[in-house]
This record gives sequence, C-alpha cells and structure tokens, in this order.
Amino acid sequence: MPPSEALYPVPVVLVSSIDKATKKPNIITIAWCGIICSDPPLISISIRPARFSHKLISDTKDFVINVPSSGMVKEVDTCGVRSGRDIDKFKACSFTPVPSSKVSSPMIKECPVNIECELKKVVKLGVHDMFIGEVVAVHTDEGAVGEDGDIDYGKAKPFVFNQGEYWDLGKKIGTYGFSAR
Ligand SMILES: Cc1cc2nc3c(=O)[nH]c(=O)nc-3n(C[C@H](O)[C@H](O)[C@H](O)COP(=O)(O)O)c2cc1C
Repeated sequence: MPPSEALYPVPVVLVSSIDKATKKPNIITIAWCGIICSDPPLISISIRPARFSHKLISDTKDFVINVPSSGMVKEVDTCGVRSGRDIDKFKACSFTPVPSSKVSSPMIKECPVNIECELKKVVKLGVHDMFIGEVVAVHTDEGAVGEDGDIDYGKAKPFVFNQGEYWDLGKKIGTYGFSAR
C-alpha cells in the first residue's frame, strides 16, 4: 500500500469565518482537524490555499469551529463542495449566523457546539496549511449539556468522516481509566 494520510475516521466540522471587507460570513467543511494541546487549548485545522476560507481566516486571524449533528450531514456536504466565492452557504443551508463573544467570525446557531478560536500560527506543510487556533470561548446548546455541566457529545450527536463516507458514532464501550479501576 502506498503511503497516504490513512488515519480514519476523523471528526468533521463546519468552520465559520467572515470576509473582512464585505462582512459576509462563510462556512467551510473541514475534516483535517484535531486537538493539538490542552493548555493552552489549541486546535488545528488544515486548509488548502485555494479555499476562499483560507483567505478570510488569514485576514481576520480568527475562526469558529462548529460541531454539526448527524442530522446536518447534507448541509455539511454542501459546505464542502461549494465555495463561498460563488454562493452564500448560510442561506443555502438555512443556517443562522450569530455574533461570537470574542472573535469577529460568527457562529452557526444550529450547531450544538461552537468553539471560538484566535489564530495563533499558520504552518505551511504541503498542499495544506495548518491553522493553529487557541480556543477563547466555547458555547453549547442546552440540549447538548450533560448533568455535570460539560458538553455531552452523546446528546450533540456529532459524526465522523471515514474514507469518503459519513458515519455516526456507535455505542459507548468504556470510560477513561476503567481498565485500572
Ligand atoms: C467531508 C469534507 C471534508 C473536507 N475537509 C477539508 C479540509 O480538511 N481542508 C480543506 O482545505 N478542504 C476540505 N474540504 C473541501 C472544502 O470544504 C471545499 O473545498 C469548500 O468548498 C471550500 O469552501 P470555501 O471556498 O468557501 O472556503 C472538505 C470537504 C468535505 C466534503
């Protein structure tokens, strides 16, 4: 087998941004993303330079990671095959942009979890540039909050990107450290 990125499944998120000049919001579907540090809380998203979102985020130096529910799979695909250069993806997906608390990029109201990020660094890697964002605020829908007050991803119902396919999550099969108890 030839070398490839190979590591699947991966989360799939909607990253919202804003055009500094026109103030129009945009959305890009991103699967190349992940937590890269806990303290400070850092998340990376990798974006090809040709994407409209690459320019918008480079200009404003912020973005919002919105975690979609499995019921939004069609909208997630739409935001991943159409460019904000050609269409208004908020309108096309009937999504509502809402102002963020700390950054200029708006959040997507319909997504159960919204993570506001300030751009800390862009690392040129190859066909993708890695945008490292520091989390400066997190918002969760009431319906996706657990009894402990934290995000309950069982309720948020995110899904994953698995070799060109969208899969939802199965059942819980363990908890952190259970093997040592
Ligand atoms: C499931 C899925 C995952 C994607 N992941 C990425 C990604 O991680 N990085 C990237 O640059 N493009 C990714 N894309 C492609 C962009 O979302 C797509 O080119 C989009 O139209 C760019 O929008 P924009 O031009 O408005 O920024 C993905 C598309 C899909 C459908």
